[in-house]
Amino acid sequence: MSDLTTLEQAILEQISQARDEAALEAVRVAALGKKGSISALLATLGKMAPEQRRSEGAAINQARDRIAAALSGRREVLKAAALDARLARETIDVTLGLREPPSESGRIHPLSQVWDELTIIFADMGFSVAEGPDIETDDYNFTRLNFPVGHPAREMHDTFFFQPRDDGSRMLLRTHTSPVQVRTMLSQKPPIRVICPGRTYRTDSDATHTPQFHQVEGLVIDKGSHLGHLKWILHEFCKTFFEVNEINMRFRPSFFPFTEPSLEVDVQCRRDKNEIRFGEGSDWLEILGCGMVHPNVLTACGIDPDEYQGFAWGMGIDRIAMLKYGMSDLRQFFDGDMRWLSHYGFKPFDIPTLSGGLSSWLLPEGSAGPHSDGPAWPELSAFSP
Ligand code: DAH
Repeated sequence: MSDLTTLEQAILEQISQARDEAALEAVRVAALGKKGSISALLATLGKMAPEQRRSEGAAINQARDRIAAALSGRREVLKAAALDARLARETIDVTLGLREPPSESGRIHPLSQVWDELTIIFADMGFSVAEGPDIETDDYNFTRLNFPVGHPAREMHDTFFFQPRDDGSRMLLRTHTSPVQVRTMLSQKPPIRVICPGRTYRTDSDATHTPQFHQVEGLVIDKGSHLGHLKWILHEFCKTFFEVNEINMRFRPSFFPFTEPSLEVDVQCRRDKNEIRFGEGSDWLEILGCGMVHPNVLTACGIDPDEYQGFAWGMGIDRIAMLKYGMSDLRQFFDGDMRWLSHYGFKPFDIPTLSGGLSSWLLPEGSAGPHSDGPAWPELSAFSP
């Protein structure tokens, strides 16, 4: 047997033994690749006498063709075997139920929903949204809002302070959204009409207080703005937000350093066991603070109080969310408990609109949510984690 025949048989043997496409490829490279054994034989042809070259060349080429044919034949067999193995491995159970898509199973946190609801309501009244940083200066959080240094009203805000800087000034986590009023007045010319929803912080924790919570501030600055406008805006807001046709509100005198006069606002409601209905009853629930912007604040923010006046209000977003949707413990807002979220959360595509309805309830068919004329609210105790 010639060397060529022996080599060819050895290669054909390797081809038939190759167990997968990678092994087959290795055989191909070793035989027909640039440095392969058959290629090496072909390279010797140049040095042969013409006669010998003709006969040897034909023999080597034929051997190469047979090897190439054997390679492609084996490749087909291995491919088919690989496919069969895959088909056997990857079985699909067509009787399995479809997995719910995220649009069905995901939930929007009630806080985000309420944030959207109130933004829509105020946007419809012509308010734009202003934002500010969570880490504030003492100046914007207190001093320019007419809390003089050392004033006891500062102590009412349980403030998270950062370490003092070299110059003695201290940054803090804003205790309310009112510093965004300051930022807005310093950066915009009146007339101003903004709401400022955002995160706020106080060192406080119980069922209705968490160290981080949310407020929405409102600010209107114009030449003729007055308390009548403020009352109308808040009245319209409450009716729309609580989705009732009429709502009674009570404005009580109060104190905030940055407003004069200052008022606190209660809404009328009826508390029945665990239910709250708005627009009826003999109970009152405090929902916000408001007032006419103090002239000292206008001056500190570069606005002439002899030319302009304005009003402002501040409201806890978590609080109105709890009131509207019947949660009793604020801390659960931050627990990330999926059971709570799937109970109180909203479907992602149920985006609140004024025309389509603000709240689309995740309640059984027939329940109407917080309408005073609808069926009753769900019992708060319906959900127990
Ligand atoms: N900043 C107040 C607080 O956190 C809430 C507030 C009351 C804001 C009256 C206002 C306002 O703008 O006018 O307690």
